[in-house]
Order: sequence, then structure tokens, then C-alpha cells
Amino acid sequence: MNEIKIALLGLGTVGTGVYSSIVERKGALEELLGKRLRLSSILIKDPSKSRPTVGGVRVTSDFEKAIGEEVPDVVIEAIGGIEPARTYIIQSLEAGCHVISANKDLIARHGEELSERASEKGVRFIYEASVGGGIPILRTLRELLRINRIQHVEAILNGTSNFILSHMRTTGSSFEEALKLAQQKGYAEPDPTNDVEGLDAFYKAMVLSKWIYGVQPSWEEVQVEGIGNVLLEEIQLAEQIGLRLKHLVLLNESLNLEVKPVFVDSDHPLYGVEGVDNAVRIQTDLLGCLTLQGPGAGAEATTSAIVEDFLSIYETGEAYRDKPAVSAVTQKKQEQGDRT
Ligand code: NDP
Ligand code: HSE
Repeated sequence: MNEIKIALLGLGTVGTGVYSSIVERKGALEELLGKRLRLSSILIKDPSKSRPTVGGVRVTSDFEKAIGEEVPDVVIEAIGGIEPARTYIIQSLEAGCHVISANKDLIARHGEELSERASEKGVRFIYEASVGGGIPILRTLRELLRINRIQHVEAILNGTSNFILSHMRTTGSSFEEALKLAQQKGYAEPDPTNDVEGLDAFYKAMVLSKWIYGVQPSWEEVQVEGIGNVLLEEIQLAEQIGLRLKHLVLLNESLNLEVKPVFVDSDHPLYGVEGVDNAVRIQTDLLGCLTLQGPGAGAEATTSAIVEDFLSIYETGEAYRDKPAVSAVTQKKQEQGDRT
């Protein structure tokens, strides 16, 4: 049984979730992959910050040390932002590492360049967690696109905005209170401006557009509107006449993209998508309409997508051919349950 070395860049909301999952599910993952897993290093920014102990792992604020001293097989980028994340990803790819990222800002802008670098080096650059949190939207689309034409997509792609709107409506809280709670729950970006101004959803829509249509709408021409100016009174008045405010992304095959809050009635398919959930409604020529819904932000949901990406790198292994992918994890849980 040989070993897979993993370097984790970032130990914030997402990084901590990934770390915990790898530690907690190590046995099940190893069984599934037929290889040993080792977290070889973790990159952080501020060494003086107090954080949970991560036993036996090199924790460093020096990227060269994180991947240079012992070159990992897989690098998981959970830093966010454009730089230094872009440079670190390029250096990791150049070093022959597969890279997994949750960074929609970066992928919307530089995804093509990074994918090309990865294929030049014969490694993978994958980013399921960058769109829709835990919803396996990119892999679902990849399967659908083999035979379907995707005509349009209607989606809720920002968990923080959907949570704020739902929380204000159901509790009568102010925008500021709801945003604070979204931050405490780890849904919002470190700077929540992109969440509430619609840019986070816009970046995700740009990632989707490239994935589905191979091109993006012109960045300058898309009007992006967020929920930053929404008033509690508007939400409450709308509720009285059966309407809910939803922050929607509308994208079609003519590359028209709209990102804006919309009042929807109870007949609207995304009316009931509440809390931190995201939803993506895809209209295709062959399948018809498919809606995927699930947690769109937060440590656990995002970790689920990242670990799925990680497994997909090795999915040609024996274990995958022999049994359903979930079985090893499920069995481990059952064994743990039996022991308690
Ligand atoms: P956090 O701010 O919680 O964590 C960021 C981590 O990256 C911190 O550990 C920080 O170090 C580290 N870091 C930041 N800058 C640097 C740097 N220059 N060098 C080294 N380390 C650095 O962010 P999140 O975990 O919330 O988000 C991470 C990424 O995941 C972002 O791209 C985000 O968009 C994406 N994402 C987030 C989701 C969520 O629900 N939160 C969901 C889906 C995607 P330190 O601890 O020292 O400050
Ligand atoms: N801040 C993002 C959101 C995280 O709220 O949707 C998930 O990408």
C-alpha cells in the first residue's frame, strides 16, 4: 500500500473542515483508495493566531516549506482571493501536484490558464466546491453534457445571501444581524462584500458558463445586483402578498447572464429554497428539467465537495471497481456504531 501526501493551503473555515474530515475518515478513505493518506503540511498566514492542535503535521506560513521540503501528491487550496493563491497553485502544478480549489474568484478569472497548466503537467486541477458549496453540480453537468444541450440555468448560488433573506423574513432580524449570524456560521467570505453585492454569485455563474458553454459572457456587460440594499420592510410586505425575495442567477445558451434579487411567488421552483441552501435548476433538450438543491456554504458542505474531488483523482483504483464508492465510509461508521 503506497502513500498519498496531501498539503492543505489555509486552515480557516474550509481548511479546518477538510483537516477534520481527513482525520476522522482516514481509515475509510484509505480503504476506498487502497493507499495510505498523510497530511504532510498545512499553510497558514498568521503563525500567532490561536488554533486547534494539528498533531504530526508541519504547519507553516512559508509556502516553499509547505510544498518544497516534501512534495505532496495533492494540494488543496483553501486560502481564497487571487494572489498569492494563483501563484501557489501554479507552483504546485509545476511541481507535479494535483490541485483542488474552492476559490471561485480565482477560477472565474484564471480557471482556463490553470487547467491548461495542469494538463501540460499531466495532473488535475479540479474545483467542485467553487460552485454551489456541497452540491455536486460540476460533476453532474459533466455527465449531462455528454448528451444534453443545456438551454438555461436558473440558480441560487450564494448561501450567505439566501440565509440572510430567509433569516430576515422568518425572524424579523435586521440585515446586519442576519449577516453577523451568517459570518458566525462560516458561510460568508472573510470580507462579505462579494456575498452581499452579488459578486460571489457572479463569479460562480462565470465558472458555470465556462463549464457548460466553454465561454463566458463579457465581464463588463453583466449587470450584477446584490442584496445589500434590501430592507426588512420590503421582505415583510412581500410576505404578506405571498412573495419571497430570492437572489437569482439566470444564464442561458445565448450567454445572457443576470445576477439580481427577484420577488418570486409560491409557483416559482426556487421559492422554497431556504436558509444556506443553494439550488441549480437546469433545463436541457433531452432530460428536461433537473433541480439540485443542498447546502451552498459552510465547512462541512464544502468539505464534502473537496473530498469528492480528492477521491475522483484516484477513482480508477481497484476499490472503485470492486464496490460502490460509499460502502467503505458507511461500513466504517457502522463499525464505529457497533463498538459504542
Ligand atoms: P477563511 O478566511 O476562513 O480561511 C482562509 C485561510 O487561508 C486561513 O487559514 C488563512 O490563514 C489562510 N490564508 C489567507 N491568506 C493566506 C496567505 N496569503 N498565505 C497563507 N495562508 C493564507 O476562508 P474560508 O475557509 O471561508 O474560505 C477559503 C476559500 O474557500 C475561499 O476561496 C472561499 O471563497 C472558498 N469557499 C468558502 C466556503 C465557505 O462556506 N466558507 C464555501 C465554498 C468555498 P490564517 O488562519 O493564518 O489567517
Ligand atoms: N460565501 C459563499 C456563500 C461561500 O455564501 O455562498 C460558498 O461559496
